[in-house]
Amino acid sequence: MENKKIVLAVSAGIAAYKAVELLRLLMKEGAEVQVAMSANAGQFVTPLTFEALSGKPVYHQIFDAKNSGDMEHIRVAENADLMLVVPATASTIGKMANGLADDALSNLYLAFKGSVMVAPAMNDGMWQNPAVQDNIAKLTSHGVEFVEPEQGELACGAIGPGRLSDLDTIMGRVRNHFNQLQDLQGMRILVTAGPTHEPLDPVRYLSNPSSGKMGYAVAERAKARGAEVVLISGPTHLNPPAGIKFEPCKTAAEMNSLVQEHFLECDVLVMSAAVGDFTAAKLEKEKIKKQGEEGRTLKLVATKDILMEASKIKTRQFVVGFAAETQNLIESALEKLRKKKLDLIVANDISAPGIGFQSDNNQVTLIGSDEKIENLPRMTKKEIANILLDKIPSRARGE
Ligand code: CTP
Repeated sequence: MENKKIVLAVSAGIAAYKAVELLRLLMKEGAEVQVAMSANAGQFVTPLTFEALSGKPVYHQIFDAKNSGDMEHIRVAENADLMLVVPATASTIGKMANGLADDALSNLYLAFKGSVMVAPAMNDGMWQNPAVQDNIAKLTSHGVEFVEPEQGELACGAIGPGRLSDLDTIMGRVRNHFNQLQDLQGMRILVTAGPTHEPLDPVRYLSNPSSGKMGYAVAERAKARGAEVVLISGPTHLNPPAGIKFEPCKTAAEMNSLVQEHFLECDVLVMSAAVGDFTAAKLEKEKIKKQGEEGRTLKLVATKDILMEASKIKTRQFVVGFAAETQNLIESALEKLRKKKLDLIVANDISAPGIGFQSDNNQVTLIGSDEKIENLPRMTKKEIANILLDKIPSRARGE
């Protein structure tokens, strides 16, 4: 943390006293810390305490006649590498999520363009309230990182989730934040995710249960590791990661056009979308009625294979495909690797319970163009995404 500029933003919770110790720990590791406080945080710890320890004036008032001329909050925000909100109350999280700025802390957050990490602390009922969880989900989609609170005895006497995360954990997360690999900087990565919808009539479509979680995890990890990311996604319930280019689509044909549009200017294609193999031969203009149609036959035609189309125009790109199989996992994956001229295939058995479609976890086998087989243990899709990104060779990294 040597010479890193951190804004420690303290909001009005009992755990505010722990921010005093956190300030000391951050400074001990060489960080330059500027403290900001919410309107009521001073009820718990005085600005003077933070001022004395940090050796800097504390930003805690927006309407301070003495300093208002120099736009203090903007200056503080411009220079910092990280804004660390500890503790974050439900109210502060709510303001941050909804763009309200009525005190020093919320003002600073709105003006700040860099990375933000938040460690909430509140009563268990507040923590579990859907409004608070919605605000957290919203901030996560804006790229804010959360250090989850712990289970334990709370200041109100209750036992449950909501206690400020241990300071060692927060320090670990801050260290990780600064040590994060930026090994994909300068690289352009195109990712596809989710299912496709192939319409049959105005209200029906053919699809599959893909959640998009794998592709979104690849996009998020690639962005965090410094890559420029384009995410082409079929319909999902997920929020796209912050800071990427997002291209939504519905059908396999639309996804194919978008891949064709971006592929040549990218260094890597990760094709994790579960693309529909068939589409209706004829799209009915009106809703198909069931009367007299009990034995209706649907005529389907094959969609274009997006990976095959990409391999035809491939120049230097590193291309990753997926193989979702219910039988003969390795043979089928190898066949796809060869046929689609892939550099890497990620194979998984979708018939295994608790992994694959919809799940946060998966158990996959990686096969490279040298046809070496690597069986990975069961792990989160984020971990799989990181391992997959590790496989990108330096030639694709433009080194
Ligand atoms: N894929 C694609 N275009 C399609 C279908 C699939 O680009 N029209 C891609 C998928 O995104 C995946 C890989 O091809 O990366 C393998 O997809 P999968 O559904 O396992 O195999 P298919 O090639 O469709 O073959 P089959 O369904 O017969 O197993």
